Amino acid sequence: MPDFDYQLVVIGSGPGGYIAAIRASQLGLKTAIVEKDKTLGGTCLNVGCIPSKALLSSTEYLHFARERFAAHGIIAGDIKVDLATMMKRKIEVVGKLTGGVAYLMKKNKIEVVKGLGKLVDCNTIEVIGEGGAKKTLKAQNILLATGSVPVELPFLKFDGKRVISSDQAIALEKAPKKMLVIGAGAIGLELGSVWVRLGTEVTVIEFLPRIAALGFDPETSKILQRNLEKLGMKFELSTKIESAKISDKGVELQGIQAEAKVSYQAEIVLVAVGRKPFTTGLDLDKAGVKLTDKGRIAVNDHWQTNVPGIYSIGDVINGPMLAHKAHEEGVAVAERLAGKPGHVNYGIIPGIIYTAPEAASVGLTEEEAKEKKIDVRVGKFPLSANGRAIAADTTEGFAKIIADAKTDRVLGAHIVASNASELIAETVVLMEFGGSSEDLARTIHAHPTMSEAVKEAALAVDNRMLSA
Ligand code: NAI
Repeated sequence: MPDFDYQLVVIGSGPGGYIAAIRASQLGLKTAIVEKDKTLGGTCLNVGCIPSKALLSSTEYLHFARERFAAHGIIAGDIKVDLATMMKRKIEVVGKLTGGVAYLMKKNKIEVVKGLGKLVDCNTIEVIGEGGAKKTLKAQNILLATGSVPVELPFLKFDGKRVISSDQAIALEKAPKKMLVIGAGAIGLELGSVWVRLGTEVTVIEFLPRIAALGFDPETSKILQRNLEKLGMKFELSTKIESAKISDKGVELQGIQAEAKVSYQAEIVLVAVGRKPFTTGLDLDKAGVKLTDKGRIAVNDHWQTNVPGIYSIGDVINGPMLAHKAHEEGVAVAERLAGKPGHVNYGIIPGIIYTAPEAASVGLTEEEAKEKKIDVRVGKFPLSANGRAIAADTTEGFAKIIADAKTDRVLGAHIVASNASELIAETVVLMEFGGSSEDLARTIHAHPTMSEAVKEAALAVDNRMLSA
């Protein structure tokens, strides 16, 4: 490696980038990672997955204490919220994890270079650090893992006060009286849940006719909506917001619902209509790296851009914008660079919405199977018939297994349950091994556990449920 400082320089330290750096270093590649933000970990650790889950947990405990303690014989008196402490704990959780990434970089002898990384040519990166200090890195290979940022609506520019993105919605100092949320995807439903539990009147406005429409089956949408409405969340579906008025007092949104004009007022609006790839300042053109027509970095099946030696992974390339997808891509690229056969199975990426109950989905829905003309058999089991769920007071939801009608191979699983994010994992493993519903149905599941609902759903594919 005579002319290079590093065999791999990663730009971006989110779950794609930092994992790629660790795996590359494990495989003996001299590696550096460039990060523009103060702490490592990217969107997921700093302003995304982790802080939102901290707030979701805190507010779920609050809700349970208020609504269910009495039924459990727990007398807690007047339950109050100290939002400042809740936010402080969230900051501590984030600090622990971003500090953990810094520790892992040190442990794996990965050099961390702080500053904005820019491509100079296909082997050179210039990093602009604090106070404009410049550092040049010569890299045999470059991995672009620069992630994504929230999408803005043209008539509703983020101002961080009245019009906010998820970045600010995890850090409000006071619960607003009224909040409008545009978009009923993961961000809208999760952060809407946080604030409705903290006393805000939350109305979610969604363009499509159902919530959680992207990647989740209609039954999941129905149960989530019912449970979120029980929390007090309101939904305006099939509604298109077309314009907005912002004033010192708040926000007014105007739109169309069933061909009629509608308008909504609130103190604050959270825009959660998706995320877009982030490549600002990277100077991709200097190295000749091409984008797709959707503005994502174009890569081949091995995550290589059109420029040999420059790779890209995560939210900035095609595919679902999920931390675990970026993570697997990071491992695969590092392994390929080390001469190993890195691979990602894009058909089996679980998707989760961390509401209460949680929604988890992997593989095909019944509708998708129909569109692909695949004949399927479906088994479903309600959590209301699961012993552990009854004991734990978490009976909302179901487990559903979708199997090929001819081969019995499991093609999809859809779970709505308090811990669906964990329950889905066994179906992901099963699908990774090409397993059948019969395999799942004949696997011993500990009793009493909520995972028995997954086994029962597999039994239900063959109409032989034992517990309902
Ligand atoms: P999303 O793409 O998941 O959902 C956006 C929703 O907004 C869609 O239902 C869409 O129909 C609706 N929408 C779009 N434009 C609209 C308009 N003008 N008026 C009304 N509705 C409109 O986007 P979201 O929730 O912002 O998440 C962004 C990305 O981050 C997604 O890829 C998501 O998967 C990921 N993410 C994943 C999480 C998780 O795994 N739990 C948590 C948070 C984000």
